[in-house]
Amino acid sequence: MKPSVAAAIEALRVHHASSPRDMRAAFAEDPQRFARFSAELDDLLLDWSKCAVTGETMQLLGKLAEAAGVEARRDAMFAGEIINTTEHRAVLHTALRAAPDATVSTGGQNVVPSVIEVLEAMGAFADAVREGETRGSTGKAITDVVNIGIGGSDLGPVMATLALAPYHDGPQAHFVSNVDGAHIHDTLKRLDPASTLVIIASKTFTTIETMTNAQTARRWIAEALGEDAVGQHFAAVSTALDKVASFGIPPERVFGFWDWVGGRYSLWSAIGLPIMLAVGPQNFRRFLDGARAMDEHFREAPAEKNLPMVLGLIGYWHRVICGYPARAVIPYDQRLLRLPAYLQQLDMESNGKRVTSDGEPVQTPTGPLVWGEPGTNGQHAFFQLLHQGTDVIPVEFIIAAQAHEPDLKVHHDLLIANCLAQSEALMRGRTLEEATAQLIKKGVSATDAQALAPHRVFPGNRPSITIVHRILDPFALGRLIALYEHRVFMEAALFGINAFDQWGVELGKELATQLQPVVEGKEDASGRDASTAGLVAAVSALRG
Ligand code: F6P
Repeated sequence: MKPSVAAAIEALRVHHASSPRDMRAAFAEDPQRFARFSAELDDLLLDWSKCAVTGETMQLLGKLAEAAGVEARRDAMFAGEIINTTEHRAVLHTALRAAPDATVSTGGQNVVPSVIEVLEAMGAFADAVREGETRGSTGKAITDVVNIGIGGSDLGPVMATLALAPYHDGPQAHFVSNVDGAHIHDTLKRLDPASTLVIIASKTFTTIETMTNAQTARRWIAEALGEDAVGQHFAAVSTALDKVASFGIPPERVFGFWDWVGGRYSLWSAIGLPIMLAVGPQNFRRFLDGARAMDEHFREAPAEKNLPMVLGLIGYWHRVICGYPARAVIPYDQRLLRLPAYLQQLDMESNGKRVTSDGEPVQTPTGPLVWGEPGTNGQHAFFQLLHQGTDVIPVEFIIAAQAHEPDLKVHHDLLIANCLAQSEALMRGRTLEEATAQLIKKGVSATDAQALAPHRVFPGNRPSITIVHRILDPFALGRLIALYEHRVFMEAALFGINAFDQWGVELGKELATQLQPVVEGKEDASGRDASTAGLVAAVSALRG
């Protein structure tokens, strides 16, 4: 660790030891607290005033960011430098949403023209399917699209398609990811092969789950419509165009992307094809525009009002300085149901690392456990632990000021009230005196009140961030996702790790390949640990 980074962390630790924690007092003392600890980008607001930070905290975090060289790292990413050093790759998902006249170069080549070429090809294909010009082999219009992919080739499209449901005017979208045959079985059994388009989405075109599901879908089409129909019912998205060719998909239905797009950053690329088929090319472009607005803000806004920077700094404060192991992301938006799962891959696959970019063991904790569910549902499940459990888990609330259902205003008013109430309750808490007084006011005897009150105490001072935007439209969704991408980038820069590789997923894949013939009964389990061998035997006995 650079001495200047170590010194900045030490200064933060010393500051934390003596910094005030009473948030009620902090708000009472400073009427400007919300203004001081919130920032906006157009109709997007980030409020971190309910986190236990002071002006000095923000200054010290800013010094850490300077010592860690985050701005230089950010500029290196946008400039197409090889910042993913273990895979020798540039990291240019931002080029996928660059302005058409921008120049974004890596290896001496401007990548923007090829990005636009693929985007236009996707748009032409999506329009033709949506308008019924491109049909199935029997002449039926395409009514259903099944995306087969996993990880980054699934989570982004699933999350965004659901989020943009009000804009959905194309074929019905379905997603198959799990190698569990139940997933593809339950999906295909409801569909007519003659009106179904299957997209095989895989950056590498080698992922075993995706390839297995793709072969099953291929058989489903071939058995129903004949081998010759396959080409008219499939499309593919990949960086490995040579591997796609052998599957029998016509080249005009194959959409490429590039090794400088990480899987978990790929929904802006051709991996977004199912989103585009659902909501149309124009809405997809608005989605890209929203991300570009956040990119520009991240590059240009002053650090203290720079939303991804602040979100990253607060994330670091909670994880490393306060020592909180997790964070919950709670969208008060049913259509963001899959956002927590999407963010789990984005954050945990990026920052779940234990060595620095130089391969040295890290000296601080790295990425937290990220989890969540939409509000208000979560309130009736795990919020008990958030309010009264023994661990502090910072919460990130996301809420839109407007809904897409003007006739259901009462629902949205309640939704907003609940969201704001939860962040207020986490911050304020309820003291023993308040709990006792409330019971007495309700007519409970003094003796009973004394016994019951401890159960009704809320410690408070539990940090939360609230993100408010006007309405969840394609632009706002793109902006929100880019905010989180850059936040993950910021935290990685502070941790000093490479956020763009994922070697931690490899060992399990290798062992699964070795175990497959054992499970199939073609090899025995000798030489494996007693637990694994015992489990193989138990499964085999239960299979009969
Ligand atoms: O197993 C992890 C991973 O490599 C992710 O990073 C990636 O998004 C996912 O698998 C799917 O990979 P592919 O798109 O190559 O099938």
